[in-house]
Amino acid sequence: MSIVSIQRIVIIGAGTMGAGISEVCAKAGFDVVLCDVNAAVLERAMGRAEASMAKAIAKGKLSTADAEAARARIRLDTDTASSERADLVIEAVPELMDLKKQILHEVSSRNPDALVASNTSSLSVTELAASCRNPARVLGMHFFNPVPIMALLEIVRAEQTDATYIDAALAFAGRIDKSPIVVRDIPGFATSRLGVAIGLEAIRMLEQGVASAEDIDRAMELGYRHPMGPLRLTDLVGLDVRLSIAEYLTKEIGPQFSPPPLLRQKVRAGKLGKKTGQGFYTWE
Ligand code: CAA
Repeated sequence: MSIVSIQRIVIIGAGTMGAGISEVCAKAGFDVVLCDVNAAVLERAMGRAEASMAKAIAKGKLSTADAEAARARIRLDTDTASSERADLVIEAVPELMDLKKQILHEVSSRNPDALVASNTSSLSVTELAASCRNPARVLGMHFFNPVPIMALLEIVRAEQTDATYIDAALAFAGRIDKSPIVVRDIPGFATSRLGVAIGLEAIRMLEQGVASAEDIDRAMELGYRHPMGPLRLTDLVGLDVRLSIAEYLTKEIGPQFSPPPLLRQKVRAGKLGKKTGQGFYTWE
């Protein structure tokens, strides 16, 4: 049994990931405080969680009573360093190192005994941990979109992380019904490094006129059994998110991650994928 007893979870950042993580934690019976500076973003996140749970009910994956109980376990808070006591803090704000450091510093100072996790998809967890009150308790918990459906939890061990807290994170993964992997803290970890490499190559192929977006995606869906082709997946993740990870990996690993001009051009045009209605595809 883990020595870290988790009951209350503070989740900071109510974007797509924060909303999904809140839903999954509340369904697993944890008390959740979802924090964001923007009250409208918080309301939208709750709406997303409710819509997702309604879909889960329709698919026979959740009872109405359990959905209502989960909904009641989520509290919204506009203080990003929530004054609520937390056993586990999960930070899911945008991929900006300084923003993450500031938030993690504040929240870990208020909760010196909590396990502190960042949902970063590629930034150095070691650098994030260094900004915290107790770096030994800090690690990466990388969730995947859509969080209620995706089975994986990538646990990232920072240089400072104590083995006890990796065990606690593994136990937590079991409680939220996710299958964990543990990776060393290197840029892009396992998932982003491989996923971004395929996504960027698909965009370069589109630039070179190798095939249409639909056919490039179909190649991987039917030829490699990927559930979704790399261009549609880039639309789902967000082109801006992919661009910022690619820029970071170029700096940290090398030019193979250099963002293709087409990706930059679409981001400049505000075509960020599903969330804006347009990316490599047009979304309803
Ligand atoms: N809650 C719970 N379960 C749900 C659900 C919900 N809201 N919605 C659907 N499900 C269940 C369904 O019941 C179904 O379960 P069974 O297989 O047991 O029947 C399963 O989830 C699939 O549901 P659908 O049939 O509705 O969905 P689909 O088959 O069209 O698949 C998809 C949708 C899961 C998104 C699939 O296309 C997929 O896996 N795409 C790839 C997603 C991916 O790669 N995500 C990672 C992105 S990278 C990332 O997030 C990290 C990063 O750092 C950027």
